[in-house]
Amino acid sequence: MTLNLGVLASGRGTNLLAILAAAAGGEIPARVRVVISDRAGAPALELARSRGIPAFFLDPGPAGKAAFESRVVSRLEEHGVDLVCLAGFMRVVGRTLLDRYAGRILNIHPSLLPAFPGLDAQRQAWEYGVKVAGCTVHFVDRGVDAGPIILQRAVTVSEGDTPETLGARILEEEHRAYPEAIRLFAEKRLVLEGRRVKVGEGERGT
Ligand code: GRF
Repeated sequence: MTLNLGVLASGRGTNLLAILAAAAGGEIPARVRVVISDRAGAPALELARSRGIPAFFLDPGPAGKAAFESRVVSRLEEHGVDLVCLAGFMRVVGRTLLDRYAGRILNIHPSLLPAFPGLDAQRQAWEYGVKVAGCTVHFVDRGVDAGPIILQRAVTVSEGDTPETLGARILEEEHRAYPEAIRLFAEKRLVLEGRRVKVGEGERGT
C-alpha cells in the first residue's frame, strides 16, 4: 500500500527533495500528495510545483493557530494524507493538527535530541563544544522538538568544523534519515511504548 504524505515546509526544501527522490526511486512506499507552507516565497513550494505536486501557501494571518491549522487540515484531508512530515516547518504544532493526525506527524531536527532543541541547533551544538552531533526524526507532540524518537544519526565534530560545515554534514544525514523513518512508518514497524519507539517486524516480507 502506498502511503500518502503531506509535507509542511517553511523554507528551502532539501528534506522534501530527499523524500521525493526516495519515493521516486522506490525506496519508500510513499508519495508526496501535497506540500503546504506558511511562507509565501518558500522554495519548497516551487520545488513541489516543478514536480507537479499540489503546493499551497496558507497565510497564518492574525486569526490564531487553531484557525490556521483548520485550513491546513482541510488541505491535507482533500489530498488524502495519511502521514504528515514536517520538514523545516517553523511553527509549533497545536492541538487542531495534533488531534486530527494523532501519532501520524513526524519531524526532523538537526541535533541529537533532547540536546539542543529549538532554533539553530547545529550552531548550538558547535558552540557547546560537543564531539558528536547529529539529527533526530521523531513523532510530534505538544512540546518543541520533544516527541518520541524514531531514529537518530550521529555526525563526528572535527576541530576544523564551523557551524556551517558541521550543519552541511548533519544535513546529509538528515536526507538519509527522514526517508528511512518514513519507510519504517509505512511498513507499520514503529511501536510506541510510553515515549519509547520500538522497531518491529511489521509488514516486511508479507
Ligand atoms: C533542517 O535542518 C531540518 O532538520 C530543520 O529545518 C531544516 C530544513 O531544511 N527542521 P530544508 O528546508 O529541508 O532544506
